[in-house]
Amino acid sequence: MKLKIAFSALVLGTAMPAIAQDGTGEAEAGQAFFQQKMCTTCHIVTTNDGTRMGSPSPINIDLSGVVGSEAASAEGPSSSRYSAAMKTAKEKGLVWTEENLIAFITSPQVFLSEYNGSSAVSSMPLGTNDAEASEDIVAFLASLSE
Ligand code: HEC
Repeated sequence: MKLKIAFSALVLGTAMPAIAQDGTGEAEAGQAFFQQKMCTTCHIVTTNDGTRMGSPSPINIDLSGVVGSEAASAEGPSSSRYSAAMKTAKEKGLVWTEENLIAFITSPQVFLSEYNGSSAVSSMPLGTNDAEASEDIVAFLASLSE
């Protein structure tokens, strides 16, 4: 009996990473990172089951639908949070592809400085500094329907 339990734990244990490798697994990991990496302090999203994540402050930039959209496209009170550097990037035509977003979320200052070709200060103070976590977060953001 003891052996059997140990065996099923082993099977379950090895099955987990296999699940995490498909797209859905990454998006799920990304949703957890979105919470853990404190993104919800300054942002909100609505998940596909209608759950709102993040504090509903009107100055929190809503990231639902950000993948594929023009940079800095939030309207209303939250648009006051965009930095001069981000507005410059928008004027230069920055569109949030998954690749761009992974770089920005990992290190906002580095990404905007490289994109604008001059030293930039983003009003998003810190990135994840962890490209793999950023990839999962972007898979999560891309999985949101709007
Ligand atoms: C302390 C507040 C704060 C935290 C924490 C934060 N952000 Fe931001 N975020 C901002 C601000 C402010 C901007 C606008 C940046 C700019 O204009 O330079 C922004 C911009 C963005 C954008 C671009 C939005 C757009 O409309 O173009 C994305 C995507 C984003 N953040 C994702 C994240 C993710 C993912 C996390 C967690 C890893 C995170 N942010 C953590 C404040 C924050």
